[in-house]
Amino acid sequence: MKTFLVTGGCGFIGSHLCEALLAGGHSVRVLDDLSSGKRENLPPGAGLIEGNVGDPATVREALAGVAGCFHLAAIASVERGVREWLATHLTNLGGTVTLFDAIAMVGTPIPVVYASSAAVYGEPAALPLAEDAEKRPLSAYGADKYGSELHAAVATHVHRIPTVGLRFFNVYGPRQDPHSPYSGVVSIFAERLARRLPVTIYGDGGQTRDFVFVADVVRALTAAMKRLPPGAPVFNVCTGVGVSVRELAERIGVVCGVAPEIRHGPARDGEIRHSVGDPEHGRRALGLGMPVPIGEGLARLLAASRLTA
Ligand code: NAD
Ligand code: UD1
Repeated sequence: MKTFLVTGGCGFIGSHLCEALLAGGHSVRVLDDLSSGKRENLPPGAGLIEGNVGDPATVREALAGVAGCFHLAAIASVERGVREWLATHLTNLGGTVTLFDAIAMVGTPIPVVYASSAAVYGEPAALPLAEDAEKRPLSAYGADKYGSELHAAVATHVHRIPTVGLRFFNVYGPRQDPHSPYSGVVSIFAERLARRLPVTIYGDGGQTRDFVFVADVVRALTAAMKRLPPGAPVFNVCTGVGVSVRELAERIGVVCGVAPEIRHGPARDGEIRHSVGDPEHGRRALGLGMPVPIGEGLARLLAASRLTA
């Protein structure tokens, strides 16, 4: 049994990770400022330090005695990065550097598995995106995630801190909060269509995303910590299947038993048109199985949220 620190553990992905770690017999400490996460998301048995991942003293306290750290704390919305550039930067890159610096100060090489994003690629020249595709982030959020990867390489090569980065594509599943304009599209559409409300598509709806179920993301996180492949690697966590936003609305409508009423709004600034990843390299390196197909994932989400027809 080991103790792991999960930054952002009160959030959507973090809370699922905490559950899996506790189920595996480990002890879990969470560092979260509850800015988008909720205390109620934490499973019983997980300890919470309420604080900012950008604060060095708090991070040092949180790291005491841990065997490894999963770093998920971030302002996860691309759109918020457009509107609140500096504030998101201080958490999304500042928090990552604060964590690595604190580990370097402690002097024990605590391994870190951290959340990067498909947003590092920007608009792709070719699909699906393999890990070595060019990185040309279009958003402050993507730039900060890419910056986090570069600092992780420094942490590993200069300070001997083992790091593994995971570029999540569009993650969905139970407990993703639908109630903010910055929420993930699946959570918003599922919640609204189940209540027979119209949904808004930004742009023409032809933009594609690679939607990956949260259970697959948790499997990738725990496998990365177990294996810790050397050399500060970064892996895609995705399905390899692109789904347009329009098709997503239709698919969720089918599961909810409703024909979606669709409204259109202007396309968002700083948006990628197409995003589909190649999952093979990560799957092999981390020993993962096949991802949950979108139809099954949506059915599981809606059943778990009691949103089905
Ligand atoms: P989330 O908003 O549900 O979780 C983020 C958590 O971090 C929240 O609990 C929030 O309160 C906490 N947090 C934010 N700022 C903090 C700070 N300064 N100090 C301490 N805690 C802070 O988002 P999520 O979807 O669970 O995302 C988790 C991670 O995965 C993030 O790093 C995000 O960028 C990344 N990611 C998410 C997706 C996705 O589709 N959801 C895709 C790619 C990458
Ligand atoms: C998402 C994640 C981000 C992650 C990235 C990786 C969230 C909030 N953001 O960004 O953390 O790094 O994937 O690929 O989980 N849309 C609508 N109507 C809506 C909401 C969204 O049409 O009501 C559209 C958006 O314009 C976009 C698509 O749906 O084209 C996906 O949007 P969103 O869920 O916000 O995710 P990303 O911006 O792709």
